[in-house]
Amino acid sequence: MKFFLDTAIISEVEEMLGTGLVDGVTTNPSLIAKSGNDMSDTIAAICSLVDGPVSAEVTATNWQGMVTEGEHLRKIADNVCVKVPLTLEGLRATHHLTQAGHPVNVTLCFSANQALLAAKAGATFISPFIGRLDDIGVDGMDLIADIRAIYDNYPELETEILAASIRSVGHMRESALIGADVATLPAKVMKDMALHPLTSSGLEAFLSDWEKTGQSIL
Ligand code: G3P
Repeated sequence: MKFFLDTAIISEVEEMLGTGLVDGVTTNPSLIAKSGNDMSDTIAAICSLVDGPVSAEVTATNWQGMVTEGEHLRKIADNVCVKVPLTLEGLRATHHLTQAGHPVNVTLCFSANQALLAAKAGATFISPFIGRLDDIGVDGMDLIADIRAIYDNYPELETEILAASIRSVGHMRESALIGADVATLPAKVMKDMALHPLTSSGLEAFLSDWEKTGQSIL
């Protein structure tokens, strides 16, 4: 399972890269706005730090505009992945961009049928939004499971499931159990995954007992 960091904050990417756990980065217009930085500069900086795909989202709403913006974004760095919204225009742009050899992440997916269309259009990644479904009282994990089952029915569909809008360690556990290919997560959730109270208390006891021995390894 690949882990992408869901952020447009460069210092956060730098911090988490050191863990060796980050395979790529996803951004969106809201994350760029939150960072307060210029989009092109931010994407260029992140791409220079990360070897894997860095999703940069188009803001045009017609397919020609999305293709033009996508081609422009792809010139920033080789590892830019063009992110387009799951609309009919977005699917048409996906088809054009992928036919031309550009990787595409289709975002704002909220149904299995949308995911099926994205795969048919040749998307590299489909991004189902778990947390936002939970927000409206629909179990976001059911969508990940449905897409996994559908894609597995048709091995010719090569689109990878990129679990997105992940808000908790529970979302990560379930995405991994279902078999999402990738998850994009905030740095906090990645850090929280390493935590367990028994690890903390166990370590405390080990260190306290070790101190009593008066020994040192080095
Ligand atoms: O990758 C999509 C993500 O940024 C959306 O997350 O928490 O705004 O629903 P959220």
